[in-house]
Amino acid sequence: MILLRISAFFLYLALILAEDVPRKFPDGFLFGTATASYQVEGAWDEDGKTENIWDHLTHTQPHLITDYSNGDIADDSYHLYKRDVEMMRELGLDFYRFSVSWPRILPSGFADRVNEAGVAYYHNLIDELLKYNIEPMLTLYHWDLPQRLQDLGGWTNPLIVDWFADYARVLFELFGDKVKYWITINEPKQVCYNGYGDSSLAPAIDFKGIGEYLCAKNLLLAHAKAFHIYNDEFKPKYGGIIGIAISARWYEPDSDSQVDIEAADDQWQFEWGKYSHPIFSETGDFPAVMKEKIAAKSAEQGFPRSRLPEFTREEIDYVRGSSDFFGVNHYSTHLVYRNESVYNVHPVPSFYDDMDVGFYQDPEWESGESETVKIVPWGFYKLLKKIREIYDNPPIYVTENGFPTHTGLQDDNRIRYYRGYLSALLDAVEEGSNVRAYAAWSLMDNFEWMQGYTQRFGLYEVNYDCPERTRTPRKSAFVYKEVVRTRTLDLDYEPDTDVMTIDEGH
Ligand code: BGC
Repeated sequence: MILLRISAFFLYLALILAEDVPRKFPDGFLFGTATASYQVEGAWDEDGKTENIWDHLTHTQPHLITDYSNGDIADDSYHLYKRDVEMMRELGLDFYRFSVSWPRILPSGFADRVNEAGVAYYHNLIDELLKYNIEPMLTLYHWDLPQRLQDLGGWTNPLIVDWFADYARVLFELFGDKVKYWITINEPKQVCYNGYGDSSLAPAIDFKGIGEYLCAKNLLLAHAKAFHIYNDEFKPKYGGIIGIAISARWYEPDSDSQVDIEAADDQWQFEWGKYSHPIFSETGDFPAVMKEKIAAKSAEQGFPRSRLPEFTREEIDYVRGSSDFFGVNHYSTHLVYRNESVYNVHPVPSFYDDMDVGFYQDPEWESGESETVKIVPWGFYKLLKKIREIYDNPPIYVTENGFPTHTGLQDDNRIRYYRGYLSALLDAVEEGSNVRAYAAWSLMDNFEWMQGYTQRFGLYEVNYDCPERTRTPRKSAFVYKEVVRTRTLDLDYEPDTDVMTIDEGH
């Protein structure tokens, strides 16, 4: 018995020590950071840019933003992009994921006239990146739709498929020779559900149970059309890749009962499978469980057809396979259950009523400035594993992962988050997941949508009290820099945070 205990102790010790051995990232793995146009650029009405749905929402309904703020100036990256690139050089990044503001390039929303000043801004940014061997990863749409297009219904109008494709072609023509990594649309669920099925993101059209489904179909077709244009006309010339960035939480069954397992399965299919299944599965189309549930509820509710629009056979084939990689934005995990208490609690019709599940987070899990971003690294591991298993191990680009704090440079909780999530990523890679890149959200603090500037996601802190918008590295910036420099995750590394320098050779 004593012998058994002693050997168990040594096994335990070996495990703990093994945890601390620095772990290598695979060869060719890329490290970056991400931002989005409206969240950092500012210059909201400068040089010919017109109003987008966030300008409109923050100016007409400021009370919807926690601190009544807006992105009029934000981080002023429109003027300070050289400092942004300098920070990327300090971190030693391989790539920078940023987005283009549609109305800065096409002031009318349509491709009738291109705004040269807007084009010049993005050329300057891209050239500055390339000068220092930082690959641009360009997102075409990160939520700042021209207000004029919203006035015509925005993502609920099927004509947006062509409007978006025209805009995409303009960008491919302008920047195709310089940009090799393209992302069509950031986070379809947030665009559609929060924007058209709820009022938690612009344009805040709370059309529950209908708006988000109309948007979903149009968005998938718009994405696919941009993909095909790039694939057919530009890829042969320039050889880049193009994909979509889907926000995916991990949904863990609350117990091992079959009912909870099924509930968790339903939830990921409704939340992100709705966008990934049409693109990455062998069969394409919306997940069967969504089609069945929404059709049945629609019939019960007296609708003459399902509130979830159908794809034609042709459309299914057009969307299926339309991504060179799976872009994953991941932040946290939820526990999911189904019992009597989940029925008839949501408005009818609505997305959550259609899904019929209950979900929550363990209050013991550590959180930062947002109650819902809790530190649950094993959820990330399970998510990456799931994607590998259900979609035949596609290349994965982690296009966002990050943790919100408040102001302050000593962000040990963010460091815990990053270290936990990078370890989980390595666990999945060691089992065969094809993860090729990782972007920390975010390079610097920025306008956090409805939370304004109350939640800070930056490796660099931004001082919003001074017009220079001074950026200062947090402790986490030094830790990330070391990961990038060594291509290794060393959980014991303690940075010297005195000065941030640019390492020679980068
Ligand atoms: C979005 C970002 C956002 C981040 C943190 C993601 O959903 O793509 O724009 O700032 O999460 O909430």
